[in-house]
Amino acid sequence: MATLVFLSFALLVCTSASQLQPRSITPPDGCPIPTWRVNTFQWYNGSHSLDCIHNEADIDARGCLCGHGWCEPDPATCNGTMVNLCWTGMPSYEPWGYGPLETLTIDFDDGLACHDEYIGYRIHDMGYGETNCGYADRGAGRIVAFYGTTNLESSTGHMDYTLGDGHAMKCENGSSITYFGSTDFELSCTHDAFYNATCTAPIFEVPVLSYKWV
Ligand SMILES: *[C@@H]1O[C@H](CO)[C@@H](O)[C@H](O)[C@H]1NC(C)=O
Ligand SMILES: *[C@@H]1O[C@H](CO)[C@@H](O)[C@H](O)[C@H]1NC(C)=O
Ligand SMILES: *[C@@H]1O[C@H](CO)[C@@H](O)[C@H](O)[C@H]1NC(C)=O
Ligand SMILES: *[C@@H]1O[C@H](CO)[C@@H](O)[C@H](O)[C@H]1NC(C)=O
Repeated sequence: MATLVFLSFALLVCTSASQLQPRSITPPDGCPIPTWRVNTFQWYNGSHSLDCIHNEADIDARGCLCGHGWCEPDPATCNGTMVNLCWTGMPSYEPWGYGPLETLTIDFDDGLACHDEYIGYRIHDMGYGETNCGYADRGAGRIVAFYGTTNLESSTGHMDYTLGDGHAMKCENGSSITYFGSTDFELSCTHDAFYNATCTAPIFEVPVLSYKWV
């Protein structure tokens, strides 16, 4: 008897766990609702990627800019100019002694493509919020924010999607509506021998959780 009770309890736990992912709201009558499905999620964070936001040593570091590339950062032998690695307008943000750049790609089913890499200006702090979903989109107010870490093999990422007033949708009666969504998702990272991290996520949907009249 006790076993039976325990079993049904376990079943209950399993069922509710699979329902943790919230479902989208029902939109007001006569209004369309978007579907936000992430088809591709790819995040590369090298162990020696230049980090001009969190790494004090990188922020202060100087390199030898020689022609269109980087030479050994030794002021005594530098045949170009010694510059701060984190200044804007550098020919590349993979300076001498550093590994490949950190990059983040988030592609949605509906064609929205978000891509970030360190470019010395208009920095998006990958894993800490806003991502870059197209320069032209900024004024229209669409924001896809992502939170997560590359330091764990398996963790929970979080994504917020704000459609923005500039992307408002039209209801049948002519009113304009805009939406917000949010979800946690499974984030899996592998680390190579150099501790470079590559993280991916299975296809997931960002459910629409609220709306706003515009
Ligand atoms: C359109 O319909 C929604 C509810 O479905 C309502 O809240 C809104 O006020 C309506 N707009 C107009 C212009 O009637
Ligand atoms: C600067 O010196 C390095 C060797 O230290 C050489 O590889 C590079 O071609 C030189 N660049 C220029 C612009 O002279
Ligand atoms: C991994 O990191 C090392 C050290 O920074 C770098 O030389 C190498 O290119 C990286 N490998 C990959 C696959 O990104
Ligand atoms: C990116 O990788 C570096 C080096 O392994 C690590 O210190 C940093 O925490 C990582 N960033 C994130 C957002 O996980």
